[in-house]
Amino acid sequence: MRRPVIAGNWKMHKLIAEAIQTVVHLKPLVAQVTHCEIVVAPPFTALWAVAQQLEGSNIMIAAQDVCDVNGFGARTGEISALMLRDAGCEYVIIGHSERRQFYGETDELVRRKIGAALEAGLKPIVCVGETLEERDAGRAEAVVTRQVEAALSGLSPGEVSRLLIAYEPVWAIGTGRTASPAQAQAMHACIRQRVASLLGQEVADGLRILYGGSIRPDNIRPLMAEPDIDGALVGGASLDPQSFSEIVQYR
Ligand code: PGA
Repeated sequence: MRRPVIAGNWKMHKLIAEAIQTVVHLKPLVAQVTHCEIVVAPPFTALWAVAQQLEGSNIMIAAQDVCDVNGFGARTGEISALMLRDAGCEYVIIGHSERRQFYGETDELVRRKIGAALEAGLKPIVCVGETLEERDAGRAEAVVTRQVEAALSGLSPGEVSRLLIAYEPVWAIGTGRTASPAQAQAMHACIRQRVASLLGQEVADGLRILYGGSIRPDNIRPLMAEPDIDGALVGGASLDPQSFSEIVQYR
């Protein structure tokens, strides 16, 4: 009932020509796929060029970040949700741990970005996840629950039904160390439960919760077999069209 989403987060990789090359290779590899939504998140500079290549295909585009204020204005260096829609984006990744960690993004800023994205009709992919220190201290669920509550605070059920959550334990990102399917499932179930108590069972049942952190073609399958894992946010392994297409075709 929840349509899975496999999203590739390219992070700060690929010049425009290589970004085009990547999707030109990817398109035929996944052209027959209907069991899931396929999303790629190129850097801002390549969004428009990639969108041109993907027109009419089954691959959608996400941006990796967005300004917390929509529209136009005096915000040097920022890119608004309206501009991302204009460039061909359907989704936007918000609150990735690298943004929280390296650029000081707070729960409050993440919440404002979600509001701006929703206002422009973008679907936010909201990232949450604990650090290794927090997990070792037994605080993983508390941290993730706090992030989820802050992200959803004040949103209507209708708004929440247009967003996705990505659980990405910080210790699993780019480390080669994935959460076990059981660890990921436990956190996903906890998130869904929290959303149910905040917004009702129907919203919780419809919410797609992706897992992210060192996903590869050889570890995607058992993760996707878990009942509360509705997709994947893939970093490193999404850069190569072959390996990303194998992840997309996990079934
Ligand atoms: P990774 O990154 O797959 O390279 O661990 C995942 C992410 O940061 O979204």
